[in-house]
Amino acid sequence: MSDVSRPWPAEARAEARTAVVIPAAGRGVRLGPGAPKALRALNGTPMLIHAVRAMAASRAVSLVVVVAPPDGAGEVKSLLDAHALPERTDFLVVPGGDSRQESVRLGLDALPPDFGIVLVHDAARPLVPVDTVDAVIEAVRDGAPAVVPALPLADTVKEVEPATVPGEPEPVVATPVRARLRAVQTPQGFDRATLIRAHESVTEDVTDDASMVEQLGLTVMVVPGHEEAFKVTRPLDLVLAEAVLARRRLNDGF
Ligand code: CTP
Ligand code: MG
Repeated sequence: MSDVSRPWPAEARAEARTAVVIPAAGRGVRLGPGAPKALRALNGTPMLIHAVRAMAASRAVSLVVVVAPPDGAGEVKSLLDAHALPERTDFLVVPGGDSRQESVRLGLDALPPDFGIVLVHDAARPLVPVDTVDAVIEAVRDGAPAVVPALPLADTVKEVEPATVPGEPEPVVATPVRARLRAVQTPQGFDRATLIRAHESVTEDVTDDASMVEQLGLTVMVVPGHEEAFKVTRPLDLVLAEAVLARRRLNDGF
């Protein structure tokens, strides 16, 4: 019997081309009022452009599909044209949907046939280092159907019975052992057929793509994530992101 966790032959994996889908269609409600989150500037450059550059920095990535806010595909195309990006990488822009899941699916629908490895990367994680991107691609090439970068947690995590009224005290239900927990980041990497099957068959709401692959009964592998791959979610995250960029500029003139 074939091993379902290693669905494709090693030769095909070695030669597979890699595309990245970047869901960037969210509003950024938690960041507060303003432009859609992916279009907000970090040190003068839109977050999305930082994220696109982070993906295109990997020599293995030959196509980036940006999933734009539903009414913002034109604006995103102009932004990509206006910023310097590596010539070896191709770019596509498609409009997104109401949920992250739908946006990713719309990005997958736009993928040309000849890409065997697909990464999904949040536009809201603009500062992920290229070594993390390459580690994810490498683990997919080594045969994992799904790979996520992740970090151990600093905080202890409690499961609670959520209050119906926000702000009310909530009873604790359980405390998972922290050493067994990981905070998951993106880019998440997949063999294309597995990711497409996951998006076709999982209909309930999920917050990441790998959990859909788990629901297919396949094993998702974790590789080390990076502190700088944090998600820009709330206003303080903008301060942190700009501080990271300022430090990079000091360290290597980038
Ligand atoms: N996303 C998307 N389409 C949606 C919702 C989210 O493409 N309908 C994208 C976001 O643009 C982001 C990524 O999914 O790059 C992760 O989502 P999140 O950080 O939650 O961003 P938002 O949904 O924009 O933020 P919020 O939940 O605070 O509104
Ligand atoms: Mg969201």
